[in-house]
Amino acid sequence: MDPREQYKKTVGEYAANLVESNTVIGLGTGSTATYFVTALADRLRAGTVHGVMGVPTSEKTAAQARAEGIPLTDLHAHPVLAAAFDGADEIDPQLTLIKGLGGALLREKIVAASAAQFYVFGDAAKLVKTLGVVTPVPVEIVDFARPLCARRLAALGARTVLRLRNGAPQITDEGHVILDAFFDGISDPRALDQAIKDIPGVVETGLFVGMTTAALVAGPDGVVVHRAS
Ligand code: A5P
Repeated sequence: MDPREQYKKTVGEYAANLVESNTVIGLGTGSTATYFVTALADRLRAGTVHGVMGVPTSEKTAAQARAEGIPLTDLHAHPVLAAAFDGADEIDPQLTLIKGLGGALLREKIVAASAAQFYVFGDAAKLVKTLGVVTPVPVEIVDFARPLCARRLAALGARTVLRLRNGAPQITDEGHVILDAFFDGISDPRALDQAIKDIPGVVETGLFVGMTTAALVAGPDGVVVHRAS
């Protein structure tokens, strides 16, 4: 296993060890979250934790959790979650995040906002000084509004690219499309998040501002826990 993959596995397992018995938690999406779900299923089978139910942030995670025997529920049955555990594409020093390169940002943000604690995990390559220099902000939109959204995002300074999968627009679990907005660095994520959400047709952005309880970051020295200041 290459080192980066090993870091993802290590931090996924670390996060699974934080899950407490008799809780309802959010299950994230992405390659790191896959390790988390597997490690949680292992704990449930081993009996080191019990009574855990998950609210998945994507159909993909739901399928994995079902296959691995993790009981699932939803926000209608359990509106408030004890914690949510998810990956990120970029993490800045304030623990503001860019998420959604996996296309699940809308459900991910809803689940994170429903949780008392939101733990994000990743390898050290996810840490950045400034968000959005490398990674685009995924913006989930109603396809009908795509020309307007692209124009307004350009006015905010972005170059936008419609997210494709297998040559066709990627349709999210909630039936929308995604514009990836490249900003070449974001100086004020909160203001940008709000400005994007003001565009008619925008459903959600991949900027997660002021939501993170702690970031669990794996690197050569093991897992380092960064707490929101
Ligand atoms: C999914 O939509 C994303 O927000 C993921 O959480 C994010 O892309 C991190 O994924 P990896 O763990 O695969 O890097």
